[in-house]
Amino acid sequence: MSKRILTGDRPTGKLHLGHYVGSLKNRLKLQDEYEVFILVADLHALTTNVDTSVIKQNIKDLILDQISVGIDPKKVTFCVQSGIPEAQELAIIFSMLVPKPRLERMPTLKDVMRDLKIENPSLGLLSYPVLMAADILMVKANLVPVGKDQISHVELTREIAQKFNSIYGEMFPLPEALIPEELGTLPGVDGKTKMSKSLGNAIFLSDNEKAVREKVAKMYTDPTRIHSTDPGDVKNNPVFIYLDAFGAQEDKLKIEDYKEKYKKGKIGDVEVKQYLTYVLDKFLNPIRERRARLEKEAGLVEKTLEEGTKKARSEAIDTLNKVKEAMKLI
Ligand code: TRP
Repeated sequence: MSKRILTGDRPTGKLHLGHYVGSLKNRLKLQDEYEVFILVADLHALTTNVDTSVIKQNIKDLILDQISVGIDPKKVTFCVQSGIPEAQELAIIFSMLVPKPRLERMPTLKDVMRDLKIENPSLGLLSYPVLMAADILMVKANLVPVGKDQISHVELTREIAQKFNSIYGEMFPLPEALIPEELGTLPGVDGKTKMSKSLGNAIFLSDNEKAVREKVAKMYTDPTRIHSTDPGDVKNNPVFIYLDAFGAQEDKLKIEDYKEKYKKGKIGDVEVKQYLTYVLDKFLNPIRERRARLEKEAGLVEKTLEEGTKKARSEAIDTLNKVKEAMKLI
């Protein structure tokens, strides 16, 4: 039997090129090789923002963006965290196996508290990784594709699984984080290390041609290059990083040619940026077209989530029953 994967995201807004490079591209590959569950972590979104006024729209965008890039609901199971109450019951049981200081020491908690200036974390924020462990273990996933920042959560999940198994008998596989080497972090259009919606330096998968053109025109390049005849740097230059990341096979020769010219001061930023706009549009056009088509299909997202959640939930019900049996609670 093929291995099982569970991965997920908090619904915090539209997805951008950084998400594509950092996770969606990998999901496209994984969907053909494994049994994949993709979770919309709406309860996790509440841990840092209890305002739910746009959450429905965010969930919809998250699903639409993923289907638009080619993640196929026939191959993967999309599910929503709040639709699986059994996972929360599992989380309560797991919470008995985790010493409180273990959660207080989580690096992710410290990062979030610092970034969002939270002095007193809510119980929900503190126990966030325990709910994540329940998400993973409810379907007995073997592999968990996550960003580097979430590795510590997968480690905690292993500890919980191990502890449960040692007290109540073999139940859970010990899941592993899956972080493909070739995936990188895409810099923002401002040259900052990471593309992020909150930093305002993102190109969204749903951006139209005009938005892309404007963002690329303002893009950070090589700040030391004043004239187009100055030799330029291509290595730390987001324009070339994007060309490498999104250029199609047939563009590779031209990209290499532009790099050589840029290094020798034989081509200007404007021309390279025009080319990048063309490359990005070529990459984004099929995604935009699919999105436009999907948006017209009334109820598509709802139906996808309803069916997927039902399937994931039946796994969770089964796991919870086995857990309670093993614990002699039923
Ligand atoms: N915590 C993850 C994030 O914020 C989202 C998530 C929730 C998740 N449950 C998960 C990821 C289970 C992987 C597996 O990105």
